Amino acid sequence: MTLHGFYGPDGTESKTKGGGADEDAQAFYGRWAALYDLLARRTPGITTLRRRAANACRLEAGDTVVEMGCGTGANLPYLREAVGPEGTVIGIDFTGPVLERARALTAGYDNVHVVRGDATAPPIPEEDEAAGQGEADAILATFVVGMLADPAGAVDDWCDAVGSGGHVVLVNAARSAERYAPLVNAVFRAVVVLSTPPTTKLRYDPDPVRRLDGKIDAAHGRLRERSSAVAHETHAFGVVRLTGGRIE
Ligand SMILES: C[S@@+](CC[C@H](N)C(=O)[O-])C[C@H]1O[C@@H](n2cnc3c(N)ncnc32)[C@H](O)[C@@H]1O
Repeated sequence: MTLHGFYGPDGTESKTKGGGADEDAQAFYGRWAALYDLLARRTPGITTLRRRAANACRLEAGDTVVEMGCGTGANLPYLREAVGPEGTVIGIDFTGPVLERARALTAGYDNVHVVRGDATAPPIPEEDEAAGQGEADAILATFVVGMLADPAGAVDDWCDAVGSGGHVVLVNAARSAERYAPLVNAVFRAVVVLSTPPTTKLRYDPDPVRRLDGKIDAAHGRLRERSSAVAHETHAFGVVRLTGGRIE
């Protein structure tokens, strides 16, 4: 697979559709890469969730899967397990320091590639546009769409990239609708505020969680619209949603 359009190692082309907000996000995740890595791999229940997300990609041995906003690479070993030694795993993220951790984690696999790039301008070409089939068999994005300016637009692009018969899987945290929601949602709100770059408007929004919920709803809703078969499940007291779709 030929990848194009990703940034050079010095990150000099790091202009993305999100503009300044993206630069803030890169600085934030870069600064907290070590702590984020710990949370991404050691939070109770996260291993099961990542495995389920990889399963929802419906991968077969030899397939190609792309993870958008792969962060420190916590999903990559599960994706590698699903595609086997003949398959290809590509992790894309725009934050240099988190990618260094992802590279270190996957250094033992020669078919896992970690590249710096923009998830909203995915560097994955459609090999056979006439047949409507993308080069990637599946795209996974966990805890990413809430950071994008146009989450539904990004999901559209990802669906186009995998083409008919491919899979797109989203995992995100949003407010719970369960009966114990008030307590769970109060904790969730604190996590959202603390995990949002302090220089972004979202952190000081009177209701950052409502804005985040809107983005998550838009992204998961668009994936359902674009899919002929949908799998949906919730985890962590209803806060975490996993939606997987087979693209029409
Ligand atoms: C909350 S972290 C999630 C990381 C990983 N998916 C996980 O589940 O641990 C969000 C990641 O998305 C990346 N990200 C956000 N917007 C992006 C964009 N437009 N292009 C590439 N990466 C992006 C950030 O750099 C960060 O590493």
